[in-house]
Amino acid sequence: MSQTIEKRDAAPQELRTLYAVVREELVQVDELLRTELTSEYPFVEELARHGFRLGGKRLRPALVLLAGKLCGGIDGRHLQLAAAVEMVHTASLIHDDVLDEATIRRHLDTVNARWDNEASILLGDYLFARAFRLAASLDNPFAVRRLIEASRLMCEGELRQIQTRGNYDLTEDGYLEIIADKTASLCACCCEIGAHYAGAGEAERQALTAFGRKLGVAFQIVDDLLDVLGDEQTIGKSLGTDLVKQKPTLPLIRLLNQSGPEQRAKMVEILSTTTAHHREALKPWLEKSDAISYSKRRATEFVESAATELRGIPDAPSKDSLVGIAQFVVDRRH
Ligand code: IPE
Ligand code: IPE
Ligand code: MG
Ligand code: MG
Repeated sequence: MSQTIEKRDAAPQELRTLYAVVREELVQVDELLRTELTSEYPFVEELARHGFRLGGKRLRPALVLLAGKLCGGIDGRHLQLAAAVEMVHTASLIHDDVLDEATIRRHLDTVNARWDNEASILLGDYLFARAFRLAASLDNPFAVRRLIEASRLMCEGELRQIQTRGNYDLTEDGYLEIIADKTASLCACCCEIGAHYAGAGEAERQALTAFGRKLGVAFQIVDDLLDVLGDEQTIGKSLGTDLVKQKPTLPLIRLLNQSGPEQRAKMVEILSTTTAHHREALKPWLEKSDAISYSKRRATEFVESAATELRGIPDAPSKDSLVGIAQFVVDRRH
């Protein structure tokens, strides 16, 4: 129990306040995750628990629960689905850390750093399978279908992103399409299944889904800003990997678009080298340009638009929490 409380407290204070209306349920979700991630094989269990040790922000389970609460109420199925989406999310991070050769995740060494890529790939697959098994154990197949679809989109988004490596001609729209798939599809799914299992009508379910999708896009824009500007100690994961892996993200796309041909060529040259300290080299240019404020503004626009999706739904503390989380997504340093 004390371990669970310690994990919850690892979330930033602002989020803990925003999660207050589903606090009890989130504790139950953590318990469920702990019991679900047991295995008769100690090595498998050790690996499976590693990724969950410090918890992360638990944003996706919170979205399932809050959408459920807003649309009619939470029951045991929401708890199971909240655990399942966190497993899918964690699986995607374990795989992503292989792609990015990242060494820190959730303030711990990554699975690939502590063990190796083989263990990471298999553990990610294992967590996907356990998540789908959990979602499939419900009395109707809606959730497992949505979760599989979101996972498909997420993988397609990551695949499309590796194809854009080194392509500094990627447009803002192209970038937005990729992050809508790789990140926003799961956030949309969380809100959709939360609403569905609370008995939401079609219009309400669509509103929640659109809210989740826009929130997810804003989330990834800010994540990409933090990759360039954030502090590893505070965030607890490897940063700068987008630059090292030559992923064109919004701050970079904007910076390059706003630069003259000579300056642009110089930047692309730096970005194309694998040895340069990209973050340090680009910082002065980023600070001089409007790339940071522009990216933040775009994230804010998505978040504001997300909030307007909930306009037709009667006010409630859970709605305030969802809107507050959307705002947190833009303001966060975590
Ligand atoms: C990180 O997600 C991956 C992205 C989609 C950017 P989070 O920042 O929500 O990760 P945790 O769960 O808090 O560790
Ligand atoms: C990957 O994006 C997000 C996923 C959908 C797995 P990032 O590579 O930016 O995620 P972080 O920054 O490593 O958490
Ligand atoms: Mg990554
Ligand atoms: Mg990132």
